[in-house]
Amino acid sequence: MSGKSNPNVRCVTCTAPVNIAVIKYWGKTDETRILPTNPSLSVTLGQDELRAKTSVAASSSFTEDRLWLNGIEQSISSPRIQNVLKEIRRRAHKRKSGDSKNDVVLTQHVHIVSENNFPTAAGLASSAAGYACLVFALGKLFGVHGEISDIARQGSGSACRSLYGGYVLWKMGSKEDGSDSHAVQVQPETHWPQMRSLILVVSDQKKHVGSTEGMQTTVQTSDLMEKRIKLVDKRTAEITKAINERDFPTFAKITMQESNQLHAVCLDTYPPIFYMTDTSRLIVRLVHAINDISGKVKVAYTFDAGPNACLYLLEEDVPRVLSLVRHFFPPSKDMKDSSFVTGLKLDEIKPLSG
Ligand code: DP6
Repeated sequence: MSGKSNPNVRCVTCTAPVNIAVIKYWGKTDETRILPTNPSLSVTLGQDELRAKTSVAASSSFTEDRLWLNGIEQSISSPRIQNVLKEIRRRAHKRKSGDSKNDVVLTQHVHIVSENNFPTAAGLASSAAGYACLVFALGKLFGVHGEISDIARQGSGSACRSLYGGYVLWKMGSKEDGSDSHAVQVQPETHWPQMRSLILVVSDQKKHVGSTEGMQTTVQTSDLMEKRIKLVDKRTAEITKAINERDFPTFAKITMQESNQLHAVCLDTYPPIFYMTDTSRLIVRLVHAINDISGKVKVAYTFDAGPNACLYLLEEDVPRVLSLVRHFFPPSKDMKDSSFVTGLKLDEIKPLSG
């Protein structure tokens, strides 16, 4: 996370990276506060790769709050954006700094301009990076310090994890008001320098069922979900141990099992939700084939609410995995023109940094 402010125009610009979960968040116990049915754990990707960039400005000449996303003005009345703005302003009031510049901003309207450098709503955690960035930028503008991941959570659950680099746990919390449901860093990005991720973009089209709606229907209709929720604590403890001990085979196995279970509960949802495509399933087969011929687990896949894959692997295995992926999935020239994408646009290697 990085940001800079210009004291004259009261404007702050920040960037925030995407995070990809290895223990998945899928289901809420409270839709308004965005409280999860289970803890989740993710890896924050490199800041220069997939990221959101947001500028927030406050001025006495603004007559209302306004928002632009990827160059197009959006309604700012969405309850989630309103909750975030309200909470930031509430905390800023509480902590009135005595710094006249900061305190003046409290009475002013804001303009928000945000953009992603990757497809929005295609299952690549755009809302996670977007809300993390917004909350961080607003926090700087309004002089709100300390724990703010619980505010990002109220924009989009997974966003709370993008406020930290490295390996990040979103604790469920137990308080009814959600104040202890926030993110904590399990290990910084420097802990496991050999870790790499590859993003395989199968499709850059918007997903047909959004995560919010999808997980709501799963909670309402899936019987498997109950069983899953009981398993997650154990898996979270096991993968945390694997991360602490840099035990790649265990980390990778749990990551793949988690992804598979997410998509199994999606299939058990009524009506069923299909995020993975034939190409996604071919990637799964390729990864297992690589692991089989290697005699040990060398690479893991994980899929969120979309067909695109994130592979985790160690630096030493990147050249071989990359050449196999390129061999079986030659990059397609123009993703947008093709409704049945058979090739993959292979993004660059994503070194993990905060
Ligand atoms: C599959 O955070 O987008 O990526 O809280 O409703 O905004 P809302 O959902 P969102 O869901 C992300 C779901 C996931 C898994 C994960 O990131 O843990």
